[in-house]
Amino acid sequence: MSHWASGVTVVTTAGPTGRPHGFTASSFTVVSLDPPTVLVCLDRAADCAPAFTAAEWLAVHILGAGQRDMAGRFARKSPDKFAGLATEPGRSGTPLLPDAVATLECRTVRRLPVGDHLVLFAEVHDARTAGEEEPAGDRPLLYHRRAFHALGHGG
Ligand SMILES: Cc1cc2nc3c(=O)[nH]c(=O)nc-3n(C[C@H](O)[C@H](O)[C@H](O)COP(=O)(O)O)c2cc1C
Repeated sequence: MSHWASGVTVVTTAGPTGRPHGFTASSFTVVSLDPPTVLVCLDRAADCAPAFTAAEWLAVHILGAGQRDMAGRFARKSPDKFAGLATEPGRSGTPLLPDAVATLECRTVRRLPVGDHLVLFAEVHDARTAGEEEPAGDRPLLYHRRAFHALGHGG
């Protein structure tokens, strides 16, 4: 699997109680354009799995090349991954992270258990992209062979 190069996302939810949860995910895929629908696969053993199982809304943040720390923060187990982060609530109340290349606020429309993961299908209801002048710009963070990378120029 590590030979597959991908982008990196952080998926967040307010959960059923309003307490924020999130995890780093490279299993993000665009499923449909009409209606705009994406999927992300979540390990059913993850601490945040119950929150994503119960919550209607989630947000997918496509990370920029300068957001390796953000990717690391949400890939490590911690009782409060959001400590010290300036989040803002989206339209659905989902906590949105700063400086992502793109942020998709989505309503979960289907949950499909497959093996040890849960496939979350989610319809995109709101989308925003970073301006060229913002820190993330339009350069995405990449993941390949268990390491983070950025796009090279040329080639
Ligand atoms: C680059 C990267 C991509 C990852 N992709 C996924 C993924 O698609 N699905 C998943 O369940 N975990 C993925 N993980 C691992 C989770 O982010 C990590 O296990 C997280 O801590 C799980 O949430 P928890 O702390 O609530 O248990 C990835 C980790 C990294 C570093």
